[in-house]
Amino acid sequence: MKILLLGSGGREHALAWRLRQDDPALALFTAPGNAGTGQLGTNLPIAATDLAGLLAWAEKERPDFTIVGPEAPLCAGVVDRFEQAGIPIFGPNAAAARLEGSKVFTKNFLLKHGLPTAPGAGFVDSASALAYSQAHPLFPQVLKADGLAAGKGVIIAQTPEEATGTIAQIMDQRAFGDAGNAMVIEEFLPGREMSIHVLTDGLSHVILPIAQDHKRLGEGDSGPNTGGMGAYAPAPFATAELQAQISREVVVPVLAALREEGIDFRGILYIGIIWTGDGPRILEFNVRGGDPETQILLPLLDTPLLEILQAVRDRRLGAIDVRSNARHAVTVVMAAAGYPGTPETGASIEGLEFDLPDTAVFHGGTKQDGSQVLVNGGRVLSVTAWASDLASARDLAYRRVAKIHFAGSQFRRDIAARLTLE
Ligand SMILES: Nc1ncnc2c1ncn2[C@@H]1O[C@H](COP(=O)(O)OP(=O)(O)O)[C@@H](O)[C@H]1O
Ligand SMILES: [Mg+2]
Repeated sequence: MKILLLGSGGREHALAWRLRQDDPALALFTAPGNAGTGQLGTNLPIAATDLAGLLAWAEKERPDFTIVGPEAPLCAGVVDRFEQAGIPIFGPNAAAARLEGSKVFTKNFLLKHGLPTAPGAGFVDSASALAYSQAHPLFPQVLKADGLAAGKGVIIAQTPEEATGTIAQIMDQRAFGDAGNAMVIEEFLPGREMSIHVLTDGLSHVILPIAQDHKRLGEGDSGPNTGGMGAYAPAPFATAELQAQISREVVVPVLAALREEGIDFRGILYIGIIWTGDGPRILEFNVRGGDPETQILLPLLDTPLLEILQAVRDRRLGAIDVRSNARHAVTVVMAAAGYPGTPETGASIEGLEFDLPDTAVFHGGTKQDGSQVLVNGGRVLSVTAWASDLASARDLAYRRVAKIHFAGSQFRRDIAARLTLE
């Protein structure tokens, strides 16, 4: 079995790790990969967004299956291109990937189908955005650049002045480039955020354990937003009742609305929700597994990963049994100095060889340099552990973190720590 995997983060190393665990004889190629994926297979010097380069490689090498980790190649249409060439690939097509690629498209989709979301609207010029902002005096107000902005395109404006300045920054000064060709303005909703990962082939679906991530850099949820500094699952507040309500009010109606629109979504639909006093509201869709959520969801699955992903692509998810185990998983992200600004790269990472049972260290921004592994990006490692309860998984993850050192490393000591208070 020959697999091509696209991406270079902790999510992709976790996918590679799981594929290799399920099938030690797998031939694995990752484009472009990192030091972690390089230890499990061959890294290819092709960017995950270089569709022409990827297709040329795949037409020559004919992988049995291709798996896409990040959103950018999905939004750029890698799945359409590969399927046209007769190369089987996992992930949504470009039309379905608009659910992540355009927040205006998604806002219109949610409103049109009466799905639970914050009141708001989409705009293609700054004058109408400004008029809407000024006509809605409730603050804070949430302003979102339309396109992919690496998690930086959402601003929560506390005052009308801040909103005015932000609209100008997004649409006139183009702070996020083409991502600011359009924007969404919506009401701020207070509540608890959760990540709902749904595997779907368009016909049936499986909801994975509900995850919670920690987005802020600092302990106690302080400091700037990041791509995610840690996560845990299943979330202890996600009772059977809450899960049933999410299935009934969010997942089932979203999938029905996609079918009604003729959107062929086959892949992982990540629904970002906020639990308000009035039940769940949809904040956004991602069209792939979260990073770091994928790192904790994979150890909770018992069914071989490739079997699941191929069933999704072939529209026979309903015919296989996707089994989850009763474990709990925690991941702690170790980031480089300077992150989430420009990371300092080049430091050597020590202590990776000190293994512990029921843990895994997934590489993100790393690169192999001879026998050394060097820091090569912002989120460097996702140190992951699993156990029969969350507190034990957390302790285990931090025992593994304590063995790893690199100059300037930043990590939160409170991942999955405030569980009983929440
Ligand atoms: N309507 C809202 N009310 C409250 N917080 C929001 C709202 N929309 C977004 N946020 C906050 O902003 C973060 C980023 O917004 P999101 O829509 O998930 O975009 P992205 O992940 O693409 O940056 C969310 O995780 C949430 O914390
Ligand atoms: Mg988000």
